[in-house]
This record gives sequence, C-alpha cells and structure tokens, in this order.
Amino acid sequence: MATPAKTLKEDPQVGGNAPDIDIGISAEDRKKISESLMVSLADAFTLYLKTHNFHFNITGEMFNSLHTMFETQYNEQWMAFDEIAERIRALGFNVPASYDDFQRLTSIKPGTKVEHTDWREMVRQLVVGNEAVARSERKSLEIADKAGDDPTVDMLTQRLKVHEKNAWMLRALLQ
Ligand SMILES: [Fe+2]
Repeated sequence: MATPAKTLKEDPQVGGNAPDIDIGISAEDRKKISESLMVSLADAFTLYLKTHNFHFNITGEMFNSLHTMFETQYNEQWMAFDEIAERIRALGFNVPASYDDFQRLTSIKPGTKVEHTDWREMVRQLVVGNEAVARSERKSLEIADKAGDDPTVDMLTQRLKVHEKNAWMLRALLQ
C-alpha cells in the first residue's frame, strides 16, 4: 500500500500539487535562513510598534520635529516589514506574525511605561532598538550569505543601511 501523502500541516514543504521548491538553495539552508529572518521580523515589528507608539505619545519642546521624524521612520519600517515576511514565504515557510509569536521571538526588551518616558528616553530607546534590529539582521545576512541567498543578502543590506542611519540620527539628538 502506498504511503499517504503528507498534508501541508504535517510538512510545510508540501502544498497540494505544487512542485517542491527548487531555487538552488538546499532545504536545510532555506530553513536556517527563514528561522533567522523570523527573529529579524519580530525585532523589526517590535521596533516599528515602539516608534509608532512614541509618535502618538511624544510631548514636550521637541514635539513637532520628533512626531514627524518618528512618522517617517515607522512608515518606512512598515513597508520593509512586509518585504521580510514575504521573503520568508518565498523561501517556503509560514510567517509567524501574531503578537504571541513576536513577543516570543523578539530580542528587544519592553520599554518603560510611556507616561514615564520623556522625549530623551524615547530617543534613547529608539537608538537601542534600531541597533538591536541591525544586529539581528546582520546575523541573518551572514547566514544568507553563506548559503548564496543573494536576494536576502540584498534586502538585509538595505535594511542595515536604514537602521544604522536611524541610530546615528537619533543618537545625534542626545549628543
Ligand atoms: Fe500620525
């Protein structure tokens, strides 16, 4: 008797009559890259949410410029978040994208309550957050690079430029 075919649930690599993924990166490498990207995605989402939170709740003499600066940053981060998630799908895996998933996977620590956070503390937390995302994405980039996954390397190179620039600009406000 033939072995029954695995369902999508039993094996995420199987999907109806769809052919197996065959893009020249081994299944093992695709898994390694995707798992690392899942952490980077959770970090990117956590930073996005924190930046948007601070956009809402900023007070004080820096209101105008920081309200606008945070908006520019979170809008850019939101688009990138989608790109990272869709790269995980292209590599053959589901995207962990619930609050529970993000909380479990992220390396960014929760900040202080926003009512106890003045603009300097907000900016400090965003410097730290942008650098945490940069570290996480740099790790993913190294794994992707070893596996010859150029599209992921290219995507993460662009992300690193943005987060390192954000960190510089935010840090400059405190110097
Ligand atoms: Fe707004």
